[in-house]
Amino acid sequence: MNPILVALDVESAAKAIELADALRGSVGGFKIGKQLFTAAGPSMVRELTSRGDRVFLDLKFHDIPNTVAGAVQSAVATGAWMVNVHASGGSAMMKAAVEAAKKTADALSRPRPLVIAVTVLTSMNDEALQEIGVGRTMMDQVVHLARLTQSAGLDGVVASPLEIAAIRSACGSDFQIVTPGIRPADQQGKDDQARTMTPAEAMAAGSSYMVIGRPITAAPNPREAAEKIAASLR
Ligand code: C5P
Repeated sequence: MNPILVALDVESAAKAIELADALRGSVGGFKIGKQLFTAAGPSMVRELTSRGDRVFLDLKFHDIPNTVAGAVQSAVATGAWMVNVHASGGSAMMKAAVEAAKKTADALSRPRPLVIAVTVLTSMNDEALQEIGVGRTMMDQVVHLARLTQSAGLDGVVASPLEIAAIRSACGSDFQIVTPGIRPADQQGKDDQARTMTPAEAMAAGSSYMVIGRPITAAPNPREAAEKIAASLR
């Protein structure tokens, strides 16, 4: 399957639908994050899933287990194909999330969405980890949380492409690794992403899905940009 998930980081449902309509068939799915979800709500997710799109609902739930379970239940009802939580919420919270996904999907007779976890936000560094009381280095903390995620029964993690190799060797080949921070070769160093890989590099390193935003959504012709990236992966 096409591993490209396009980040619909736009401010309105109309813009998101226009992009999705232009890209449908050339990418593997769409990511709806906090900006679009807060503006357009769950009907935005339903709008795309009802057209057959795979939607990664990137709301990074982090709360007490009962509340996260309720949020995941609501997410499954929108038809989301992938949802996520923060691994730092702990294994009880993560188990509650997967359990809620299973139960709700069973009740609705549909496949359970993939449930993945954010290990450490890529905006953080070793200094920021120290600040919140984490003594480990970034890489050790990422691998520690990836193992915890796997043992809690989740399907995978969101990670920087530079962390793929360490997570693959700790968690094996069946674990899903979703990577943002992707820039085509002719766009390295663009935008605010500091440590990037090209789509082909990320795939070779073992990325399962890559989240790509501006290189596609801000291109003069988004579909052409998506097709070019997909071709670079074949
Ligand atoms: O436009 P760009 O390709 O940089 O978009 C990447 C998407 O992935 C954005 O929605 C961003 O919020 C998200 N993301 C990220 N880094 C993370 C987690 C999510 O860039 N560690």
